[in-house]
Amino acid sequence: MNEHAPKKLFIKTYGCQMNVYDSDRMADALAPHGYEPVQAAEDADLVVLNTCHIREKASEKVFSEIGRLRELRDERRLAGGDLMIGVAGCVAQAEGDEIVRRAPAVNLVFGPQSYHRLPELLARAHNGARVVDTDFPEEDKFEHLPAAKKEVTARRGLTAFLTVQEGCDKFCSFCVVPYTRGAETSRPLEQVLREAENLAEAGVRELTLLGQNVNAWHGLDARGRSVGLGELCYRLSLIPGIARIRYTTSHPLDMTDELIEMHRDLDALMPYLHLPIQSGSDAILKSMNRRHTVAEYMAVIERIKAARPDMAMSGDFIVGFPGETDADFDATMQVVREVGYASAYTFKYSIRPGTPGATMDGQVPEAKKAERLARLNEQINTQMHAFHRSVVGRTLPVLIEKAGRQPGQVGGRSPYLQAVHMQGPTRLIGQIVPVEIIEARNNSLTGKIVTDAEPNPASVIESRATAAHI
Ligand code: 5AD
Ligand code: SF4
Repeated sequence: MNEHAPKKLFIKTYGCQMNVYDSDRMADALAPHGYEPVQAAEDADLVVLNTCHIREKASEKVFSEIGRLRELRDERRLAGGDLMIGVAGCVAQAEGDEIVRRAPAVNLVFGPQSYHRLPELLARAHNGARVVDTDFPEEDKFEHLPAAKKEVTARRGLTAFLTVQEGCDKFCSFCVVPYTRGAETSRPLEQVLREAENLAEAGVRELTLLGQNVNAWHGLDARGRSVGLGELCYRLSLIPGIARIRYTTSHPLDMTDELIEMHRDLDALMPYLHLPIQSGSDAILKSMNRRHTVAEYMAVIERIKAARPDMAMSGDFIVGFPGETDADFDATMQVVREVGYASAYTFKYSIRPGTPGATMDGQVPEAKKAERLARLNEQINTQMHAFHRSVVGRTLPVLIEKAGRQPGQVGGRSPYLQAVHMQGPTRLIGQIVPVEIIEARNNSLTGKIVTDAEPNPASVIESRATAAHI
């Protein structure tokens, strides 16, 4: 294949937001080598599956997708063409060679720490080699990944993900992350600021900082002083254009005073926090190796609510962890009600080979897991709708993000991450405008723009002070 002819790249992303961010960075790494993104495998010369290993179902999807791609490639070859197939992400990291053995159609397999090497790996694959790279290299991949061109960033929209931390040292007994993403590492402060400046210059107004344990982020400032995520958020908020900052996912043990106080002091830090507890039972938390009790978690929430009374809480829950009794599950339901989560992600426990949970006694039957999940989801949906209804009648600052589905409509988000639809001109895209919330629907709000000027800081503070306590 001619190295200089334009080539088409399709990346299919599974799993979490970190994979969404990584997929963009892979596209950025390949752009200087002539690869242009397309929207479907059928139009592509190279398809990369950016995979997730967190639960069995997510993992298995990859192999059925490879089967489909193999058929597509066979058709192409009959017509004199070809298709390269790459597997990236956490399944690649966890299964490495096994993927090529099980699915020989795959040309290259590479883990999340190898994305900066992608052009070189691809060149080797083009020469006919089967390439597997699941090393954890010494060099900092972020230093070697090229930045996106300004117009590419602009096309991606005015909210952006920015990975600041990767990996995890907590070793919860259900979780593959410490094995697939490796040890906990933080990107250097200056590197993060530089990337955020580039994003802001391209028009980005809202950053979501990402990390498996994002609130464990730490770095050194120019004077060699150790700084935490709160200070990082502050420094990011000083970048012209950056109006809103969010971060996900946090661990309760890493919710420092510095970060909590920043929620009190920094208007740019949005009042929506994803802080998983996983279970409401101390016995289960212990066997999950969470290293905190329910009471300790509740104490963290109390500190957060004292700093920011209108904070909307979100979490993750696993039902049917080995040994979970009806009483343990009831304790989870109790925590859900007490914290008053505005939203949550809920999962049936999924055995992950190689993790301590996989071999524990007391595995819970699937039917029981399904029954508990349904009860939990019902409770969370009820709370989510109640939260949406609680903002009806209030005026919230909404970041207008895009044109709506109907002509004359625009869509945006409230500080609490709620989707808001309203009538309005597309020239408002990128602005934060006061919007009166008229109606709560299942998954979104309908609003009316009060004025199309940016609200002055005083009005933002006022809407924050009157926010409902959930
Ligand atoms: N089974 C079910 N859910 C899991 N999660 C992580 N590992 C498992 C597992 N083995 C969930 C946790 C975590 C989220 C990203 O996925 O709730 O917070
Ligand atoms: Fe997995 Fe999160 Fe636990 Fe780390 S803290 S092991 S990423 S669930």
